[in-house]
Amino acid sequence: MAGHKNLYIRTFGCQMNVHDSEQIEELLKEKGYRRTDNEKNADLIIINTCSIREKAEQKAYSLLGRFRKLKEINPGLIIGIGGCVAQQMGADLIKKAPYLDLVFGTHNIHRLPAMLQYVQKNGNRAVETSFHESVKSLGIQTLPRHGRVRSYVTIMQGCNNFCSFCVVPYLRGREESRDSSDIINEIKFLADHGIREITLLGQNVNSYGKTLHNSSNFPSLLKKIGDEAGIERIRFTTSHPKDLSDDLIACFAEVDSLCKHIHLPVQSGSDYILQRMNRHYTSKEYLKKVEKLRDVCSNISITSDIIVGFPGEKDNDFQKTIDLMEKVRFDNTFSFKYSVRSGTAAERYDDKVPESVKSKRLEVVQSLQKRHTLESNRALEGRVEDILVEGYSKNKRTDVVGRTGTNKIVNFKASGDIIGTIVRVKITKAYINSLRGKLIAKRRGIGNVSRNESIWFSY
Ligand code: 5AD
Ligand code: SF4
Repeated sequence: MAGHKNLYIRTFGCQMNVHDSEQIEELLKEKGYRRTDNEKNADLIIINTCSIREKAEQKAYSLLGRFRKLKEINPGLIIGIGGCVAQQMGADLIKKAPYLDLVFGTHNIHRLPAMLQYVQKNGNRAVETSFHESVKSLGIQTLPRHGRVRSYVTIMQGCNNFCSFCVVPYLRGREESRDSSDIINEIKFLADHGIREITLLGQNVNSYGKTLHNSSNFPSLLKKIGDEAGIERIRFTTSHPKDLSDDLIACFAEVDSLCKHIHLPVQSGSDYILQRMNRHYTSKEYLKKVEKLRDVCSNISITSDIIVGFPGEKDNDFQKTIDLMEKVRFDNTFSFKYSVRSGTAAERYDDKVPESVKSKRLEVVQSLQKRHTLESNRALEGRVEDILVEGYSKNKRTDVVGRTGTNKIVNFKASGDIIGTIVRVKITKAYINSLRGKLIAKRRGIGNVSRNESIWFSY
């Protein structure tokens, strides 16, 4: 398009940041910016940072150095930084990197167009890191990008849990839930614009509704979305085990459109470490919840987060994490070496674990997980799964890629006209990161018929 300016966004961290970046892109579209994948062509660069772990933070800083060089070649280039690092550092970032033009915190995405205008008009810098209680930043309604079938919907922001390793409550503020009617309207809007699957986002979706002063809670929200929003698939993330209620577990049987997958971060299998992490559950309680989930939904996929080398973690504590992994046999886990975060309670623990021990433990967790993931994927060989087709496969235009309800990626041969529909696929081969399948049946009339009325025909 003639006359537009180029926007280059780099996103670090979680799904929430990915969603924030999509919203930034939409907001700036109204100001004449179009996204580019080439940083060298950019008129505006935004780095959306994450500081949950040391590694993500370091990556953001090293990128800043690279963009400084681009500004030396093109002095008109505007560079902005948002997300958790921006929230944490605020105006200090400008002192550290004087070539920065914009710093916006986790609650200030909606202020970005005005900040940009200020910078352009005055040739000055803008910093905004205040917390907004009205959760304005949650209400940005953006059109899904063309061709997308999945989208995120934020249902709450902030966190009140203060796990001792975690910086999120300091950078994303206190928990605040969005009104359920706003959420339903947003999902209906997305469904009307081609979205088939939504992921409800919150640091701890299980405490949804606590700030709303009505009877809304997360299970009731899920049921309402299932009944009213007209969306094919619902997912959510993340869920704190201490707040996983029987009502929520029952939703996996009661809400048809709820995908049979839960991300339930355990962090450690040692009760001593869990207590020091301020997690408010024991490994036994966690295992009990897993058992209940599997009682309600035998083939539910369960994924988790694990931290190794938390201060005070001895060999026998670590062994308890391994024992728990053997008992649960997670479909997948994200595992991390503990990194100290400034301002958190665990910063004060002085029995830190040496880096070399952390690295060894991480390796053990990751190789065990690979074995478990492959096992759980292999169990699907020969089975028929409903797949929401998301697009063409990365490397092959003759193949398409989609996901099972249990969130496993499946590649299979088919033409692009089925993108955006749910089809039946027989799983023929399991790998660690994906599955291979064969198209068996397409569903006719998707979008015109309700889930219960859908008609399948063989392929
Ligand atoms: N060190 C290592 N991992 C961390 N996480 C959060 N904070 C830290 C930290 N200081 C991990 C947790 C959390 C995930 C999003 O990141 O496992 O669930
Ligand atoms: Fe961090 Fe714990 Fe809140 Fe999750 S629940 S965001 S780990 S403090």
